Amino acid sequence: MTDIKACIFDLDGVIVDTAVYHYKAWKRLANELGFDFTEEQNEQLKGVSRVRSLQLILGWGGVTKTEAEQTELATRKNDWYVDMINQMTPAEILPGALDFLEACRAAGLKTALGSASKNSMTILNKVGIAHLFDTIVDGNHVSAPKPDPEVFLKGAEALGVSPTECVVFEDAIAGVQAAKNGGMKAVGIGSPETLSQADLVVSGLDKMTIEKLKEL
Ligand code: BG6
Ligand code: MG
Repeated sequence: MTDIKACIFDLDGVIVDTAVYHYKAWKRLANELGFDFTEEQNEQLKGVSRVRSLQLILGWGGVTKTEAEQTELATRKNDWYVDMINQMTPAEILPGALDFLEACRAAGLKTALGSASKNSMTILNKVGIAHLFDTIVDGNHVSAPKPDPEVFLKGAEALGVSPTECVVFEDAIAGVQAAKNGGMKAVGIGSPETLSQADLVVSGLDKMTIEKLKEL
């Protein structure tokens, strides 16, 4: 058994299902530019920064844009996305997420958010769980995107624990890689085929327990 002292949670796809809102907003943008992309392609956007997501999508559509145009397009997408997340309620917390966060804290473990999103505070406030995190590190605080471990290492540092004492919960391939690159344990949320690099994969936080954490 490892001496686990902290749990670091990704947000989109682990605690809330905002991936669907990202998809809707990106799809609307692509459609306005005259092309479409599939849900399979959308999988590749999970955990990926806003700017990089736009570049991937433009590539799929065979569209070239200047940097200034890219900034405008990313802002347009984000405005639609923010309109959607502003409607979110606590009912959109994914099954088991609240219980597991509370169980971690009751077990004396520290908790952090480690998200690529620059909208994480809006989401946490809308669903009413910001107070369950000892520290919040998101897209506003990091310069290197996942799979770089920066976001998780900053979380560990803020919590005063070493990376080997942390378990990261992630639904994205790039996120699991970021955890492993940072020397942390990774629990994948999703399918074992997709998240094969994780130490354990569960379908959702409703399938996670403190006992399973201790066995990692
Ligand atoms: C990640 C999502 O959590 O945040 C990505 O999985 C998203 O799909 C990224 O692109 C950045 O989010 P935002 O809210 O800053 O545009
Ligand atoms: Mg995610």
